[in-house]
Amino acid sequence: MKRQPVVSSKKAWGGRFRERTHELVEQFTSSLAFDQTLFEQDIQGSMAHCQTLARAGVLTKAECAKIVKGLEHVRTEIRSGHDVFALEDEDIHMAIERRLTQLIGPLGGKLHTGRSRNDQVALDLRLYLRETLTTLLHNIQRVQQAFLTQARAHLDVIMPGYTHLQRAQPVLFSHHLLAYVEMFERDKGRIRDALTRLNVLPLGSGALAGSNYPLDRVFTAKLLDFPNVSQNSLDAVSDRDFVAEVLAALSILMMHLSRFSEELVLWSSQEYGFVELSDGFCTGSSMMPQKKNPDIPELVRGKTGRVYGHLVGLLTTLKGLPLSYNRDLQEDKEPLFDSLKTVMDSLEIYAEMVRHLHVHGEIMAEAAGSGYLLATELADYLVNKGVPFREAHEIVGNLVHMCIENHRELRDLVLADLQEASSHFGPDALSFLSLKMAISRKAQIGGTARKSVETRLKVLEKLVTSMSREKKRHKKAVS
Ligand code: ARG
Repeated sequence: MKRQPVVSSKKAWGGRFRERTHELVEQFTSSLAFDQTLFEQDIQGSMAHCQTLARAGVLTKAECAKIVKGLEHVRTEIRSGHDVFALEDEDIHMAIERRLTQLIGPLGGKLHTGRSRNDQVALDLRLYLRETLTTLLHNIQRVQQAFLTQARAHLDVIMPGYTHLQRAQPVLFSHHLLAYVEMFERDKGRIRDALTRLNVLPLGSGALAGSNYPLDRVFTAKLLDFPNVSQNSLDAVSDRDFVAEVLAALSILMMHLSRFSEELVLWSSQEYGFVELSDGFCTGSSMMPQKKNPDIPELVRGKTGRVYGHLVGLLTTLKGLPLSYNRDLQEDKEPLFDSLKTVMDSLEIYAEMVRHLHVHGEIMAEAAGSGYLLATELADYLVNKGVPFREAHEIVGNLVHMCIENHRELRDLVLADLQEASSHFGPDALSFLSLKMAISRKAQIGGTARKSVETRLKVLEKLVTSMSREKKRHKKAVS
């Protein structure tokens, strides 16, 4: 006896089934709520696939044109906010195909020939990241520009440099800011690396084994501006290392933002007073009228934990998966989208907040002037007079101890005090007790002397501007 299908043809995979999908299963498995973010890329990929099918002789030119037109229509509908999704749509791929078929009839059913949602979703994600990461690079650059502007404006400001959060040696405030510009430069490098590795076409891998149709994958790659095609269909549909790599790069970037956030929280406290965040970037207390709180850096510091969490979450999702595609992989999108949004938002607000930062140079210099930050200068003075460094260290250590006992600073010492500690001290030793002198002596590459800092500042300013050009070039290539 011939069995009639009980399930309506609503499900693209309904043929094998005789019972309805349970409502709970429908809700539990659906990814449409979050993967609709990928609708542009999904349609772009479908158009290229359609053209590849036509080239392979699977579709006629007229059929291809009709499908492409239909896809354009669906795109316009989604862009203009029409609710074209149906409850039974499992994901964005199904939703678009169903709407297409509704619009152009059974021909819509030919689009999925030689393709699986497994290679389709891998393609969509790669296309999406290619675009988003280019914007992200631009946003990091904007933060770098804000740091560079502050660094250029405050080249004269001396601050205490710290190790173990104890005052250590004086440094230029600009040098401190440029340290972060260097970190962001490496963050961009990591993202560019990830971009190069993910810029590979997975489409044509089918569900896992490849396709029975003579698909010209190099042609598809050209249409979608991919320099390479994937070389192993199992790998192409099952790995998400490119997502993990992006999440790792984002985590490191957030770690950098978080460290500076911690510094801003400390520096804007009354205990430090080094900087003041402008009113527009602070919030108050509902109870204590005097409060002005650094909530932005605090939140960026807090959100860093969330981005780390997404990285660890995804790695954990991936670690036990046998090849090739498993539905677990659907869990890659929410952490990725959330991390990208968190990082983008943080960068956006950071660029503005840093630009509006008030710097209290006098307070920093005052802090650098007390706390024996020039002790190393005195030790190095003795080394120049031929005293072995360990001996010089001991002599100056004793001097510092004497000062602490007598509530004096090094700058209060007179030549007689120095000479009492060591006969190697001459009258020129006193000039070593100047902050400016301490700074200017560190003039090697990477040192805090104004000369070195200015040289690097210029290089970084150029580097960051050439980045803007890179973005324009990329935009041109994609459009
Ligand atoms: N929504 C799925 C995902 O994001 C698409 C691929 C589903 N493939 C499948 N055979 N069920 O991973």
